[in-house]
Amino acid sequence: MRIAYFGLLDFAPPLWDNYSVRRNIIITIDGTAASGKSTTAREVAKRLGFLYLDTGAMYRAVTLKVVRDGIDPDNVEKLSRMLKSTDIVIDRENRIWLDGEDVTFQIRTPEIDRLVSVISAIPLVRERLVMIQRELGRDGGLVCEGRDIGTVVFPKAELKIYMDAKLSERTKRRKKELGHRGIDVNADDVRQVLSSRDEIDSTRTHSPLRIPGDAVIIDTSRLTIEGQVERVLEEMRKLKS
Ligand code: DC
Repeated sequence: MRIAYFGLLDFAPPLWDNYSVRRNIIITIDGTAASGKSTTAREVAKRLGFLYLDTGAMYRAVTLKVVRDGIDPDNVEKLSRMLKSTDIVIDRENRIWLDGEDVTFQIRTPEIDRLVSVISAIPLVRERLVMIQRELGRDGGLVCEGRDIGTVVFPKAELKIYMDAKLSERTKRRKKELGHRGIDVNADDVRQVLSSRDEIDSTRTHSPLRIPGDAVIIDTSRLTIEGQVERVLEEMRKLKS
């Protein structure tokens, strides 16, 4: 398996020094589905001139490949062979390429939403992806979001955030996001898929979604995107003292 990552935000000025923190720190953002992690992580990374790593996109790309190849997730041998021959590229605009094809939108369909938690609970899949994520974050200067980032992938990260929001609010956001992409979905279905994903993600045996002991918890139910970003930056500013 090869994951090439070109996420360096070279168009953003390196603002990390404005915050008087070392440029190689790691910020982790974990939390429930559609709680605002991606939007916040991307914007914080941009403002700091840090890398932004969306680990959910990696699990989604692997899920898409499992679906396309018609692989039985219980067939470990086949799955292992598939993972070895999988090529994922994340480019500078955070588009995701799977074996040379741009799948940025295909990995965010309701079908993949339904299946991704099942595929990402498979130990073999996690093992491979976690190894790559650690390698990508080796030099720090990174905002990384997912479910097990502060607990398993980067347990020594300087700043850990855990985001959550009311299910009704997350449902509204996800429905709106899908609507923007021309996918019309019923709110009840969205709510059901979100809560079932949270359930699977937080009860799986391997690296379940947990609030890291040393995390700052942010409830985004009543926050704007700017408010979410500002909350994270506020915690960043505290790091220097
Ligand atoms: O962040 P997201 O909704 O795109 O993530 C999709 C799924 O991927 C999520 O439901 C569980 C899985 N995931 C994971 O198991 N570990 C991560 N670090 C990130 C995502």
